Amino acid sequence: MGIESSCDETAASVCLDGKILSNIVAGQDIHSRYGGVVPELASRAHLQNIVPVVDQALLLSQTALSDIDAIAFTQSPGLIGSLLVGAQFAKSLAFTQNIPLIAVHHMQAHVLANLIASPDRPAEVPYFPFLCLTVSGGHTQIVVCTSPSDLKVIGETTDDAAGEAFDKSAKLLGLPYPGGPLIDRHAQSGNAARYTFPEPRVPGLDFSFSGLKTAILYFIQNEKAKDPDFVTKNLSDICASIQGRIISILLNKLKMAASQTGIRQVCLAGGVAANKGLRKAFEETGKSLGWKTFIPEMGYCTDNAAMIAMTGYYKFLDQDFSPLSVTVSARASW
Ligand code: KG4
Ligand code: ZN
Repeated sequence: MGIESSCDETAASVCLDGKILSNIVAGQDIHSRYGGVVPELASRAHLQNIVPVVDQALLLSQTALSDIDAIAFTQSPGLIGSLLVGAQFAKSLAFTQNIPLIAVHHMQAHVLANLIASPDRPAEVPYFPFLCLTVSGGHTQIVVCTSPSDLKVIGETTDDAAGEAFDKSAKLLGLPYPGGPLIDRHAQSGNAARYTFPEPRVPGLDFSFSGLKTAILYFIQNEKAKDPDFVTKNLSDICASIQGRIISILLNKLKMAASQTGIRQVCLAGGVAANKGLRKAFEETGKSLGWKTFIPEMGYCTDNAAMIAMTGYYKFLDQDFSPLSVTVSARASW
């Protein structure tokens, strides 16, 4: 069983020999009215959700608690209070069921979500080595994955994550949190060439999104000074233009990484991989450059426990267990 509680999703999943049998996620609507995740409220919601979510995951997979061989949980990174709820629950299960406890790094799990086969595409998983662009609310990374336990970050953001760039831009446009999916929706009917936002100059394979956020802020302030209804009148084009720039920043670095490493199997991961514009541009780039591309099913891109269970499965094979004294960490490298 895998348990995920690093941010504002409480999730549990049962995995049998590397096959996902259930994947239950409970979201937390309460944060939308505050414009972002409120850590204390997230911890309380995890406490309320964890038992029913685990129950559902067992029920759906037709598995008895006594049949669980090991319990994996997200140890890092994340909100401390949120991580503690999942960790404490996992430790209690490990202790009472007398089964191994497996600590999982959330970002490693996002990458390994690409190894989860779908019932309709059982053979469509990458072989090693592969490259992965992980884009979430807290991280933006390019990772070389040589085996399930050998992952190396070769590029990452120096400030905001791609998901934050989406969410903060959406906030400037007056859209509710999380704004990423809303920008995606409005962008579909917009013209991405209408407004031009700057592409940051960051050396190597690293990213930066804070300059883009500032450029958008000034752009909106200027245009609103001329016409107070500017945003409402041009929302689709603004969203398409912002999204287009975020995508070009991401894919330009990914192209550079593929060219430098020579790796031609390229994956997407993380919540922003749900973005329709990114998915399309990623597939098109892959086609034009001769890559074999992979994107996990939507439910395995955003935060979920199937990716934790899958990573736990590989760690189980390696007998990579943790003692009950293991602690959670807001930030930890792999
Ligand atoms: O991986 P994830 O579920 O949680 C973290 O680990 O952060 O990613 C959440 C992020 C949020 O910033 C959210 O706005 C963004 O993913 N996101 C999207 C879309 N769906 C989720 N961003 C753009 N377009 C989407 N369709
Ligand atoms: Zn995540």
